[in-house]
Amino acid sequence: MKTIFSGIQPSGTLTLGNYLGAMKHFVDMQHDQKCYFCIVDEHAITVPQDRLKLRDNIRSLAALYLASGIDTEKSTLFIQSEVPAHTQLGWMLQCVSYIGELERMTQFKDKSAGGKEGVTSGLLTYPPLMASDILLYQTDIVPVGEDQKQHLELTRNLAQRFNNKYNDIFTVPEVRIPKTGARIMSLQDPTKKMSKSDENQKGFISMLDDENKIMKKVKSAVTDSEGIVKFDKENKPGVSNLLTIYSICSGKSIEELEAKYEGEGYGVFKQDVGAAVVETLKPIQDRYYELIESEELDDILDKGAENASFEANKMLRKAKKAMGLGRVRKKK
Ligand code: TYM
Repeated sequence: MKTIFSGIQPSGTLTLGNYLGAMKHFVDMQHDQKCYFCIVDEHAITVPQDRLKLRDNIRSLAALYLASGIDTEKSTLFIQSEVPAHTQLGWMLQCVSYIGELERMTQFKDKSAGGKEGVTSGLLTYPPLMASDILLYQTDIVPVGEDQKQHLELTRNLAQRFNNKYNDIFTVPEVRIPKTGARIMSLQDPTKKMSKSDENQKGFISMLDDENKIMKKVKSAVTDSEGIVKFDKENKPGVSNLLTIYSICSGKSIEELEAKYEGEGYGVFKQDVGAAVVETLKPIQDRYYELIESEELDDILDKGAENASFEANKMLRKAKKAMGLGRVRKKK
């Protein structure tokens, strides 16, 4: 049995990109594995957050995990800040990371491109916290979308560096990136990834958008003037993105879809892509609204934090011992 860990930031309502690139795979992977799925709220505060909105987003993300099919009989679902071991080991791993390697992270470079004055130091030291999330659970596999690949590489480096320098205690995890859907693109600019922080609301589909909104957004998705439904990421990024979305939502292969729309133009195609997205999200939304105000959700998160703390504290004790932190009681 392998141990799986992954996390999602509660920094806004999840997008279809988060679902197709990550969450959907979590659900598929949880059978016969030991799984931990985390709401990484301490990562979200690396950029300014409205406190009440953050609270809502944390709860909303927990409900979305469950509504999408995370089964708490098989998986532990919990909130990062409710398990203090994450920031504790995070600090220890910061002391093993180098400023140079953290400054080279693409995400940090992008977010600090406008100057470093208003950029929090948390944004720079976020990858060792992410490494801590993963290493606390002896994780074998981390399912993520493509944008997290570099952070995973750093996690592996930190684990190996710690093991060599102190004691061989951490499992070096493998990254698992899906073959299709690892990078769902913006509907308005298909050269950029779909992101929940996009200022243009038409660029992303939120997992809670209603049918009307989804259909409108898909219909206004940027394509090209060729009128041919064909997968060609380089020359037809918009159509290729819609094909990817449609293929995952419908379970049909890209080739099958290309053949289906031969000679059709984009009108009917977009209508059907939209309908497939609605069909995928509707059952999740129905379950979400049942869960969001329920006590059941709180009970699940309480139990999740308890399970996760138990495991995480075992690893934290080992790491402290390896680094020589704290003390050993003298025997009389
Ligand atoms: P976050 O919250 O930005 O995204 C959550 C997951 O969704 C994937 N994703 C996408 N996949 C395909 N297409 C897209 N457009 C798209 N946008 C996002 C991400 O790759 C990710 O898998 N640092 C992480 C959270 C984190 C974490 C961890 C992940 C913290 N600790 C430990 C794994 C293990 C993040 O910001 O993801």
